[in-house]
Amino acid sequence: MRADGKSRAKCRADGTRIRGYGKITMTISNRQVRLAARPVGVPRDTDWKFTEEPVREAGEGELLVRILYISLDPAMRGWMNDGKSYIAPVGIGEVMRAGAVGRVVASKNPAFAVGDHVQGMLGVQEYAVSDGSGLTRIDPGLAPIPLWLSTLGMPGMTAYFGLLEIGKPKPGETVVVSGAAGAVGAVVGQIAKIKGCRVVGIAGGAAKCDYLHGVLGFDAVIDYKSADLRAALAQACPNGIDVFFDNVGGDILDAALSRLALHARVVICGAISQYNNIGPPKGPSNYLSLLVNRASMTGMLVFDYARRYRDAGREMAGWMADGRLKSREDIVAGLERFPAALLMLFKGENMGKLLLELPDN
Ligand SMILES: NC(=O)c1ccc[n+]([C@@H]2O[C@H](COP(=O)([O-])OP(=O)(O)OC[C@H]3O[C@@H](n4cnc5c(N)ncnc54)[C@H](OP(=O)(O)O)[C@@H]3O)[C@@H](O)[C@H]2O)c1
Repeated sequence: MRADGKSRAKCRADGTRIRGYGKITMTISNRQVRLAARPVGVPRDTDWKFTEEPVREAGEGELLVRILYISLDPAMRGWMNDGKSYIAPVGIGEVMRAGAVGRVVASKNPAFAVGDHVQGMLGVQEYAVSDGSGLTRIDPGLAPIPLWLSTLGMPGMTAYFGLLEIGKPKPGETVVVSGAAGAVGAVVGQIAKIKGCRVVGIAGGAAKCDYLHGVLGFDAVIDYKSADLRAALAQACPNGIDVFFDNVGGDILDAALSRLALHARVVICGAISQYNNIGPPKGPSNYLSLLVNRASMTGMLVFDYARRYRDAGREMAGWMADGRLKSREDIVAGLERFPAALLMLFKGENMGKLLLELPDN
């Protein structure tokens, strides 16, 4: 048996093969990434443990999935911490939690057939046995598989509902988005353009800014790594900011608060600049701008909108077909590269949605 779970002999999807005199039970080997320790600050290689073990057979009502793409998300950093959050922390020794897409290779669950493609919290591993709860079928015929973890998946839904339900942009308003060249931010800016807004993106580096302006059509871009952020915001938003969609927190949030327009809406989607802090996150000092401008600041969690994902996906697929919404994925191949790939998010090394591919050869 090869490490990738395939055999040279003819092998059934349920992990058995016929050779000469009858059925020989095959063991499929599963490589996994487990949380070894709770990180202090930036995660280190020693916070992870690579394991390899046989996949257990799918029982009655279960299915076995070969994972093809794993979503790398800033939220993973929070899931590694102990303490109360919107979801329980990953336990020490457990397979790291991750959204993923895979192909069903064996099924004793009537809702899923061998060959189906499914999406769900399958973890950082090559194979997952599931009872089907939390899994949804996706159709790779409608859109390439990586898109189902990107613009048509969780990050796209975050952008769609965060902007439209919390930001409530009106045509002609100024929408500013931080983390603008990332999975969520790039979709936020494009939807704001579709809704007739003036869009300003904040991102790190000239290449990202060129992409936002030249390819995605943002009206203005600010490279926060080289610009005086407050002066650049004043120049880019002469009438103030009506909607600030924040993915970053910290100093960028503070600078945006100082530029709010009357009745502005601030969407707190994330605060990636704070996730590796050893102490508590840095809060905004400019919060009285909310009072002065009768503005609101609201947190959002994408999972609250799960029942509406299908409708949002249909609308976004329409925008993509019209060429009004572009999706970009940044793909790293190989399970062994998971620790380094995760850190790319915190170093700003990704453009678009960062995915880990587990080649299926
Ligand atoms: N509330 C929800 O339901 C929900 C759901 C999904 C995601 N989120 C949040 O949305 C945000 C974006 O997620 P994503 O998946 O789209 O990630 P992403 O934007 O694709 O990747 C992260 C980006 O953050 C930027 N960044 C990293 N460290 C930074 C720092 N110290 N200061 C400023 N920018 C920094 C980097 O871009 P630059 O090169 O531009 O710095 C990096 O490329 C995260 O905060 C995430 O936690 C929230």
